[in-house]
Amino acid sequence: MKRILSGVQPSGKPHLGNYLGAMRQHIQMQNEYETYLFIADLHALTTVRDPELMKSQTHELAVSYLALGLDPKKTVFFKQSSLPEHAELCWILNCITKIPFLERAHAWKDAQAKGKKEISVGLFNYPILQAADILLYKPDFVPVGQDQKQHIEMTRDIAQNFNQIFGGESLNTPEALISKEVAIVPGTDGQKMSKSYGNTIEIFADEKTLKKQVMSIVTDSTPVEAPKDPKNCNVFALYKLLATVEESKALAEKYKKGGIGYGDAKKLLLEKILDHFKEAREKYNDLKDNKELIKSILEDGEKRAKKLAKATLDQVKQKIGYK
Ligand code: ADP
Ligand code: TRP
Repeated sequence: MKRILSGVQPSGKPHLGNYLGAMRQHIQMQNEYETYLFIADLHALTTVRDPELMKSQTHELAVSYLALGLDPKKTVFFKQSSLPEHAELCWILNCITKIPFLERAHAWKDAQAKGKKEISVGLFNYPILQAADILLYKPDFVPVGQDQKQHIEMTRDIAQNFNQIFGGESLNTPEALISKEVAIVPGTDGQKMSKSYGNTIEIFADEKTLKKQVMSIVTDSTPVEAPKDPKNCNVFALYKLLATVEESKALAEKYKKGGIGYGDAKKLLLEKILDHFKEAREKYNDLKDNKELIKSILEDGEKRAKKLAKATLDQVKQKIGYK
């Protein structure tokens, strides 16, 4: 069985972009792959500075995955900070990676371009910690959203560099797995849906908030009776991602014929979201206060992850001359 590994930062409330671009894939793949999935709370420290927020967002993300169908018997599900191997391998990789290599990272370049001067060393170093996360588990594939492609390429370069310096094949070179049709999910304003743009539709928001978010989707001012182009509509773009092919076709026909207003299309989208996540939303409410259960699931994952992480780190340490 081929192995996959991925991580998600506990950086806020999961939204449709996270689900369609990453979480859904992770959960579907657990049936065909040996799956390792972790909550990237070490990475989250580059932005989260409040202990209560760190705890609540970690809990929220774990509950969300379980509610959406992650099966902790199949998937090894754990918290990054509970395994010191991640930070240890990160240090080792820091020592063999050159600064200009990191300066090529999009995230760093964007921060520079925005004139951010007070960037932490941790943020600059972010791709190396991500490489360590991945390489510890020797996965065949890393399922991620399009925005993470460069980080996986950097991981491969870092692994090859280590192997070249110390000889042998202690680290492997995994490939990114990016689902093409949902590469970028648009937000309520038509830009990429992202917590940092405040344009999200949250999967587990209460019905009132969810309605408000859906109704806030930006549309043009074509009148109700006039024909509309489904290809140029954010409401349709989101509907299409959740509906069946037939349902999307039917709505596209209504758009082209005219007679359906954007308000009605938004109502259809809201119904679709509520229907799609009905079971998950119920499960979420059942699980969200059960802190002990969540903790024990993550601890069990930690034990299972440890075996592989420790074995790889031991190999690396031998190569370096620490063992
Ligand atoms: P955000 O941009 O809201 O902070 P994250 O960076 O925490 O989201 O992303 C977590 C995962 O969800 C990543 O794998 C990312 O590629 C995916 N993802 C986030 N937003 C989108 C989107 N709009 N479309 C597709 N995938 C997305
Ligand atoms: N950087 C990823 C994101 O923002 C999260 C992440 C951390 C990750 N470590 C990883 C993803 C390892 C895949 C593999 O979404």
